[in-house]
Amino acid sequence: MHTLSYAATAYTPTRACVAMRQSYELNGMQQMSDSPEQARLTQAQSEARLLATAEGFARAELARDSTGHDFAHIERVRRLAEIIAREEGADVFVCALAALLHDIADYKIAGDEATGLARVRDWLAAHHADAAGAETTARVMEIIATMSFAGGARPPMTTLEGRVVQDADRLDAIGAIGVARAFAFGGAKGRALYDPDQVPRAAMTTEQYRAGDSSTLNHFYEKLLLLKDRMNTQYARQLAAQRHAYMRAFLDEFLAEWSGER
Ligand code: ADP
Ligand code: NI
Repeated sequence: MHTLSYAATAYTPTRACVAMRQSYELNGMQQMSDSPEQARLTQAQSEARLLATAEGFARAELARDSTGHDFAHIERVRRLAEIIAREEGADVFVCALAALLHDIADYKIAGDEATGLARVRDWLAAHHADAAGAETTARVMEIIATMSFAGGARPPMTTLEGRVVQDADRLDAIGAIGVARAFAFGGAKGRALYDPDQVPRAAMTTEQYRAGDSSTLNHFYEKLLLLKDRMNTQYARQLAAQRHAYMRAFLDEFLAEWSGER
């Protein structure tokens, strides 16, 4: 362990070299220029390159997932996070990167949180994330650590970027996509669509929530219908209102059909 961290420290001075070499390659081996436009282009290119690499990493890590965190979820969360980030004036690059990596640290995928978080941190270090933008590693890790926080009440997000990515992740759990994901999850766990004898559980500990074996319909009352009031940003609240209304209409129709009313 000591040798490893020593090696990482010793490697630090070469990061600048790697960044320089990347920007040199990205400029098509042209002479590097100091013009602001050139610098901006190079910055955008190195961000784009890191995002593309992160996409490949997330795709490979989550390819075999059946817990509702498949790569298509990641792509949707990224797209939503970018849209909300633009509306809210957040750093689009940090939001996109955190969205791409947010479920790799999920306990269901990594086994436990510490392992998952270390995996993401190592990846960011190995890919010189801080060369693409100052403090990228710290900013992304802060978001992912808070999102995957398992114990009881989660701490609130401290940054605008964190609030944006959390909103994007929550939006993907509601609306038509939310309905589809809930029943896919329930199916994978062998749960009933609905059981009129099971009353939705009100307040739950994390353990009760994870161990629970209640019907998929109960999940709407226990979690999904509560999400619209937990949005952090104004723009996500707007999107959530529409998705929430759709989900409510679905539940009304479902229960009416179940009871033979319609
Ligand atoms: P997160 O990691 O964002 O907290 P979860 O891992 O709890 O999300 O859920 C991932 C997806 O699976 C979500 O769409 C969620 O609604 C769905 N899901 C989670 N638990 C259940 C459940 N008990 N019944 C139905 N769907 C569930
Ligand atoms: Ni997610």
